[in-house]
This record gives sequence, C-alpha cells and structure tokens, in this order.
Amino acid sequence: MKIDNDTPTATWSPDVLRRFAADFDPTLEKLLAKQTDIPTRLHEAMTYSLLAPGKRMRPYLTTRCCQLSGGTTDDAFAAAAAIECVHCFSLVHDDLPAMDDDDLRRGRPTTHKKFDEATAILVGDALLALAFEILATRSPKDADIGRMVQVLAESTGATGMIGGQAADLTGQEQPPSLKRTQYIHQRKTGHLFSAAARLGALAGNASDSAIDSMARFGLQLGLAFQIADDLLDLTATTEQMGKATSKDAVAGKQTYPACVGIEESQSAAKRASSEAIAALSTLGPDASDLQALARYAISRNY
Ligand code: IPE
Ligand code: IPE
Ligand code: MG
Ligand code: MG
Ligand code: MG
Repeated sequence: MKIDNDTPTATWSPDVLRRFAADFDPTLEKLLAKQTDIPTRLHEAMTYSLLAPGKRMRPYLTTRCCQLSGGTTDDAFAAAAAIECVHCFSLVHDDLPAMDDDDLRRGRPTTHKKFDEATAILVGDALLALAFEILATRSPKDADIGRMVQVLAESTGATGMIGGQAADLTGQEQPPSLKRTQYIHQRKTGHLFSAAARLGALAGNASDSAIDSMARFGLQLGLAFQIADDLLDLTATTEQMGKATSKDAVAGKQTYPACVGIEESQSAAKRASSEAIAALSTLGPDASDLQALARYAISRNY
C-alpha cells in the first residue's frame, strides 16, 4: 500500500481519498480473508459492512500522520485498519432500529436490513474485537503498542465514541443546547478522529509534541466534520450522501443547526477547520494535504 504524496497540493481533490481507498481496501479484504473458521453468515456480514465504499478519511489520516512522523504506510497499516474497524462498528450499530433506525448506508442497505438485527449487533461486536486484535498483533514491533491499545480503548469506549453515542440518544429527549451538542460531537466523532491521528503518530514513533499536534488536528477535524454532517443532513440529498437525510430535526437530535442555525453552524465549522489547520503549522509544507483535508471536510457535498 502506498500513498502518492510527492506533490502535496493546497487544493484538495476527492481523488486523493479514492486512490488511497484503492490501495487500502484490498489489504482490508486480505485481513478479513485470514479470519477463518468463523460462521459464514457473520463473515459475510463483516465483509459487507467493512468493505462497503466509505470515504476512508480516518485511515487516510492515520497513514499520513505515520508518514509525517517518519514511518511507512506499512507501519501505519494495523492502526489504519483498526480505526476503520471501530468506525465501521460504530456505523453498523448507529443504524440499528434502537438507535438511528436507518435503512441506507454508503449507498447500500444497512447491515441489519441486508442481514438481520442480531447479525448486525454481532458484526459490530466482532469488528470492535478485530480492531484490537489487529492493533495488538500487527503494529510495528518498535512502537509503543500498549499505549496504542490504550488510546484506541479510551477513544472508543464510554469516555469516547460510545459515551458520545449514549449522550446523542438521551439528547433526543432534551431541548437543544450548544453545550450538550459540543459534548456529544467531541465524543461521538472528535475522539475517533483524534485517535486516528494519534495512532498514526505512535506507529511512526513521533515525538510527544508531534503526537500532541496531530491529536489536536484530529479532534478539530472531527468537530468540523460532524458540524458539516449536521448541515448536510439539512441540505444534501440521499443520493449525494448514500444515507437518508432530513432526519435529525425530526428525531430531535442535538445538532449545531438546531442550536445556533445554519449560518452560525457554518462559521463554527470554519473555526474548527481553521484550528485544525493551525495545529499542523509546525509541521511545514509536508502537512499541506492534511490542511487541505480540513478545508474539504467542511466544503464537501457528500
Ligand atoms: C459517518 O462518517 C459518521 C459520522 C461521524 C458523521 P463518514 O461520513 O466518514 O462515513 P463513511 O466512512 O464515509 O461511510
Ligand atoms: C454518527 O453520527 C456518529 C457515529 C456513528 C459514531 P450520525 O448519526 O450523525 O452519523 P450518520 O449521519 O448516521 O452517518
Ligand atoms: Mg447517530
Ligand atoms: Mg446516524
Ligand atoms: Mg448525521
């Protein structure tokens, strides 16, 4: 797997992620193929969910942070795959009837629609466990694997994404509050983006200050990304997004637009994107593609 990053450009093209996915997805596929002697239906559903065409932003972030730290794409692979497994687990469970109750994801029927609810629950469980197995067994031998496992656990669990998802659900019963929305967004989305960056930095044996900069970048990128997701729920079509839109207000979700309106949400997304860009300023022009990614996160239309 390689990333053609010889000529980082200030202007982002979605082709960068498409090229990354073209290299990354076959390696994910091989990883799943190595999972032998597991129930056929579970294996099929894991493959269906993990290999569905996602943007692969988080593993791209992991890979680039590893490279910026002096590591190779191969050094980044375990962390990149682990973060995509956790992300995919979060999507499969997020779509369940007991959560957001969605029928379409990545342009395809959601896992519980294609298979069944019990299988979708088990797919999420299995992908979460697989993430830790990959991280523990396939990370570079000279990396601080214990710390990497801790980062992924804290950013995924009750203190991270899962805690954010719990607050997202209880938030549906509460009046819109910016404080609550920020709490939810930091955890359900910000923490995984931050972990994606930190895991890449750790896989590349970055200095503590570089790990810190990349973690701040990831967090602000995640916040900008989630505010954009809130806005796209209002403004984009199902065809564009590959998932249902115009749902958050009906469900009473805590979103930026519900709290502060569209214009102020756009400003907040820009502020988070600018903070992300500033966090990488010490890394020089090598990080310019990630800075462009932070601009793309809020200007995307899918
Ligand atoms: C969707 O994430 C969940 C949110 C945090 C809004 P993505 O939009 O990155 O999903 P995929 O991986 O591209 O499908
Ligand atoms: C999802 O937020 C965050 C996670 C999956 C952890 P949303 O519920 O807004 O994501 P979408 O819009 O369904 O992709
Ligand atoms: Mg949700
Ligand atoms: Mg959802
Ligand atoms: Mg959403």
